[in-house]
Amino acid sequence: MCGIVGYIGKKDAVQVLVDGLKKLEYRGYDSAGIAVYGGKNENKRNTCTGNNIVVVKCKGRLDSLQEKIKNSIIRGNMGIGHTRWATHGEPNDVNSHPHVSHSSKIAVVHNGIIENYTELKEFLESEGFEFVSDTDTEVIANLIEYFYKYYHKEEITNAVVNSLKLLEGTYALGIMCEDFPDRFIVARKGSPLVIGLGENENFAASDIPAILAHTRNTYILDDDEVALIKQDQVIVYDGFGNEVKKEVFKVDWDITATEKSGYEHFMIKEICEEPEALRNIINSRIKDGEIVAGDLSIIENEAARVNKIFIVACGTAYHAGLVGKQVIETLAKIPVEISIASEFRYQDPIISPGDLVIVISQSGETIYTLFALREAKRAGARVLSIVNTVGSSIARESDNVLYTLAEPEIAIASTKAYNNQLAALYIVALAFAMKRRTVNDRAALEIMEEIKRIPELVAEVLNHREEVQKFAARHYNSKSVFFIGRGLDYALSVEGSLKLKEISYIHSEAYAGGELKHGTIALIEEGTLVVACVTQNYLKDKIMSNIKEVKARGTLVLAVTQSRFTCEVSRTADIVITIPDMNQLLVPMVAITPLQLLAYYFAVQKGCDVDKPRNLAKSVTVE
Ligand code: AGP
Ligand code: GLU
Repeated sequence: MCGIVGYIGKKDAVQVLVDGLKKLEYRGYDSAGIAVYGGKNENKRNTCTGNNIVVVKCKGRLDSLQEKIKNSIIRGNMGIGHTRWATHGEPNDVNSHPHVSHSSKIAVVHNGIIENYTELKEFLESEGFEFVSDTDTEVIANLIEYFYKYYHKEEITNAVVNSLKLLEGTYALGIMCEDFPDRFIVARKGSPLVIGLGENENFAASDIPAILAHTRNTYILDDDEVALIKQDQVIVYDGFGNEVKKEVFKVDWDITATEKSGYEHFMIKEICEEPEALRNIINSRIKDGEIVAGDLSIIENEAARVNKIFIVACGTAYHAGLVGKQVIETLAKIPVEISIASEFRYQDPIISPGDLVIVISQSGETIYTLFALREAKRAGARVLSIVNTVGSSIARESDNVLYTLAEPEIAIASTKAYNNQLAALYIVALAFAMKRRTVNDRAALEIMEEIKRIPELVAEVLNHREEVQKFAARHYNSKSVFFIGRGLDYALSVEGSLKLKEISYIHSEAYAGGELKHGTIALIEEGTLVVACVTQNYLKDKIMSNIKEVKARGTLVLAVTQSRFTCEVSRTADIVITIPDMNQLLVPMVAITPLQLLAYYFAVQKGCDVDKPRNLAKSVTVE
């Protein structure tokens, strides 16, 4: 989710909103906008929503919005503002927020994802509502208008409360209605929202930094709560419309610390966001025992006849592909060839028109991956992209795009985006398997149920992250760290090793456990740290032998394993980090988190620039 700010009081709402949005820029965004109540809109260059509410919004940075505001007549003492991280509808002026309803009476800003927006949009269109954007958010504005128009003519709050009952997904909302100049409404479910309590003025924001310059007294809204915000009054309701008494939360944070919502670095914040990010993609793609892939024609129409799949990506995205290869072959029985994107186009790949190429990219702008996509299309293959950034070059040039919905990832080292790339690959693999009947219905249902558990399993791992922190405090001076694993654990090891290298600058290598003896074990010496992944039951005895081999040469071994293997593994490994017991095929989505934490705490202990490691960029857009 991105940024929301709301204000009502004596000040110039435009300045309060823009200043507040600036405080939220760190969250990453692609467009911004404000809606202000008050003053006729004499300037035709605005997006006028009627006589009283004026909306100014655009793609791009806040500077572009401020330029547009300068050329507009927009002023007033109440308003809502938004910075957008697109999830539905590419970044452009029309898809920017605020969105207004069909009659222009209702203006809405939204953080989050409405999973059932398609059905709601179809219903509202059948009721004569017209839409101008591709977003899920515009549905909210029209749904509120629908209830306001037909059921709650005099009371906007009830129209909002009843609209929210139909929404599936996550939201933090700011809402204004042209008939109520003395109030705006906010609501939250799954996306954070705080209310700032001022002197004869009140605020709302998706994060505390946006309001801290004005007040330290806040209400932290809970899920399903709705708040009516007036200049001198704030009333909070629960999901049934009953008024609730909120405790005032006094913010004693230093303003700079709050720019990461209290986390020391974006990287740890984004690792801790993994459960929420995973819920975003899993809940929008797995519903009622079905895979939701209606927008992916490659899966819907071509799954049965795909002969071969290529997976192409760079860095962490490539490592996600290593997992994807094994999972697609295991579930869908389709041969998968995986390539590093910078090699792919020079390999003269043998691609047939019936083949499918899957490209993976968080940024959607990595030049090698984009070139690989174009190479695949030139060869006549269909291209499915797995991308986090909506409307990015790779997304736009693909035949189908499966967005990972991990929301903004600011730290250069990719964490939550990787977990969500894995989730996307599992969903694709299962969708193909179900279409090709290589997995029966019962097995498919079990796998879907287990995938639904993944966010809570990751949350459980995060609840014990201090164990990793303590280990790092003792061993961060390691000169070289080897990661070993077999099967999916090898794919995990490769990503764990990259994470450590790129943010702690410690030399590290990942090896397939059975390959160690073919040379690299010569580097193993007394005191070398080895991180062993032991999560695959069918390979456990083999990797345990490899652990004994390196133990015999004086290494320190940290093992990551499922809790059911803890006793056995603890007899050999020096330190054991456990993940909850789970379907071993799905383990990578959970077992990667301890490895990300290990890299993070090593880097913190070494005093590295965790979020901006030397020599690295968040997206490599040049050859
Ligand atoms: C990940 O931690 C690295 N920063 C890097 O390997 C990254 O995964 C790679 O550059 C690919 O980026 P993309 O996913 O945006 O295409
Ligand atoms: N899902 C909404 C959109 O794509 C909101 C995205 C956000 O949280 O910024 O416009």
